[in-house]
Amino acid sequence: MSSATRVRVFAPATLSNLGPGFDVLGLALGQPGDHVEAEWSDSPGVELVSVSGDDGRLPLEPDRNVVGIAARTALAHGGGSADPPGVRLWLEKGMPLGSGLGSSAASSVAGALAVSELRGSALDPDTLIACALEGERFVSGGVHADNVAPSVRGGIVLIRSYDPFEAISLPVPSRLRVAVVHPHTAIMTAEARRLVAEERFGIGQAVANLGQIGAMVTALHRDDLQLFGRAISDALVEPLRAPLVPGFDEVKRTAQAEGALGCSISGSGPSVFAFAASDDQADQLAGRMAERFREVAGLACDVHTGPVNTTGARRVSG
Ligand code: HSE
Repeated sequence: MSSATRVRVFAPATLSNLGPGFDVLGLALGQPGDHVEAEWSDSPGVELVSVSGDDGRLPLEPDRNVVGIAARTALAHGGGSADPPGVRLWLEKGMPLGSGLGSSAASSVAGALAVSELRGSALDPDTLIACALEGERFVSGGVHADNVAPSVRGGIVLIRSYDPFEAISLPVPSRLRVAVVHPHTAIMTAEARRLVAEERFGIGQAVANLGQIGAMVTALHRDDLQLFGRAISDALVEPLRAPLVPGFDEVKRTAQAEGALGCSISGSGPSVFAFAASDDQADQLAGRMAERFREVAGLACDVHTGPVNTTGARRVSG
């Protein structure tokens, strides 16, 4: 594709961990997501012109905002000799910060993709992931690709290894539907990660999660939604983070009683997800889970339901 003067891109929100897969499993949602517009600039480097949808909470300094950091990393990958030296960016946040839905990852991916698209789709998916990970490193105090990789590629992604980096896209059962409930409270990823880093885990917990991850991958290859649901069980991280999400235990019990195919916390929370085998079941689950958050914790919620987004981040115009 030839280079462009101005582009608009979209990067989707993601569920991460998916129960047993701390830092190694993630999935792309259809909505919400972030948009970035970008145009070439004669001033070297990255200029972040505006950020909207963040209630004024994100900095405009490109070195302190993940979108600027990811775009700068993408620019440094080198372009054609005729390319201008810099870019101007406009970030439109389409999801709340600290939601557990990969907000920083979506902004990072959109920043890197916007630069790539200005250069005519110059960067391959793994390079986009690497650029976006620089944004994640800045905000979460560590590198985890379970939001960035599915946001770039779409679908369900397993991070087999961080060094060397290797991500594997897994089959997505066509009947699989997601129900996500975001209660209106925020959890900062860096703090929730500290909780995990400071814990000493037992071998029994590790054994439990290893079995579940193997089962999840098997379930996706077999198109076995029941096995997939049974494998959404986390002995490592969910017990530590559940107290951070007011009403989580009750909401999970409600989802299970409604026949959910598994239920857990997305990333560091507070969003909670469940899976279903139909659109109707996903809508019903999301409604009941949101109602329960209101009843037991007094929290209003946003809900998102639908199939897994198998496309990932994309250019929407320009
Ligand atoms: N895997 C990461 C965590 C995702 O659970 O900390 C953060 O969004």
